Amino acid sequence: MALIELQDVRRTFTVRAKAGRLRREKREVRAVDGLSFTVDAGECVGYIGPNGAGKSTTIKMLTGILVPSSGRLRVAGVDPARERTRLAQRIGVVFGQRTTLWWDLPLRDSYELARRIYRIPDARYRANLDRCVELLDLAALLDTPVRQLSLGQRMRGDLAAALLHDPQVLYLDEPTIGLDVVSKGRVREFLREVNTQQGTTVLLTTHDLTDIEQLCGRVMVIDHGRVVYDGGLDGLHAAGESERTLVVDLAEARPAIAVPGARVVKVEGPRQWLAFPAQQSAAPIVAAVADRYPLVDLSVREPAIEDVIARMYAEVAIG
Ligand SMILES: Nc1ncnc2c1ncn2[C@@H]1O[C@H](COP(=O)(O)OP(=O)(O)OP(=O)(O)O)[C@@H](O)[C@H]1O
Ligand SMILES: [Mg+2]
Repeated sequence: MALIELQDVRRTFTVRAKAGRLRREKREVRAVDGLSFTVDAGECVGYIGPNGAGKSTTIKMLTGILVPSSGRLRVAGVDPARERTRLAQRIGVVFGQRTTLWWDLPLRDSYELARRIYRIPDARYRANLDRCVELLDLAALLDTPVRQLSLGQRMRGDLAAALLHDPQVLYLDEPTIGLDVVSKGRVREFLREVNTQQGTTVLLTTHDLTDIEQLCGRVMVIDHGRVVYDGGLDGLHAAGESERTLVVDLAEARPAIAVPGARVVKVEGPRQWLAFPAQQSAAPIVAAVADRYPLVDLSVREPAIEDVIARMYAEVAIG
């Protein structure tokens, strides 16, 4: 069942840009430019793309904060811009860059306000709060004013606030930004639990690809407001024409060697780096090197997903 549906959704902004020394002229920015996709109930989808791609604009439209310029949009059967209040019961949002908590109030009071705003029944509120407090280790922080919390603590507090009313969909816009490795791990663990145990549908925007690797079965890459890739992480390697690297140590330093099926990308003394297509076997290349040159040692490096994505972003920018 599709929980999120977009059909040819567009959103433009009019900005005043400098044109010459004194003149300013109006210019249209197409932040989202014909987006169509669906997300099924229970999915955890990574929504990634370079800066300015239109990710936050999409999420703002999906929460009803922004109205689309055109196109059709439905979340849990609701048109977000028209029925914001009805939608609010069905969604939870976390913006990593800013908090939805009351700055001067203790966490506990923010949660209490959420309980009233969403009219959460007592038993359900208790159960959800207890679960979040336990999983996010919030017990010691409940009476601390939000402004005194560290970034990682505040983020955990925000996650709990977004989930107290049992939303069907959780939008996360850079939930791990600025967090240390341990805090990131804890947030990811919590999100996995929410997605797999509670069955909450998750749409996750992040620049940290480890978030995606650890949580998302599906990833959508967007650029210039359009979908440029939609599929599994594995497919991304193929689509990005990713390469593996064979690192060889020869008996002595020599100029770049010649081996069919691979190209030398770096030479450092006796060590040379040979790139070859990720889906090909390394065996024939190793054999060819050993056959022609005095080989001392070797290792194969898997392509980093970062490199694949970086290349993909670069290609999109040029193309
Ligand atoms: N309120 C606004 N007024 C004018 N232009 C805007 C507004 N909001 C976004 N834009 C423009 O729309 C485009 C998409 O912005 P958006 O914030 O959706 O990008 P993003 O993918 O979230 O990027 P980032 O990774 O940097 O967060 C950008 O060119 C941005 O400058
Ligand atoms: Mg953004």
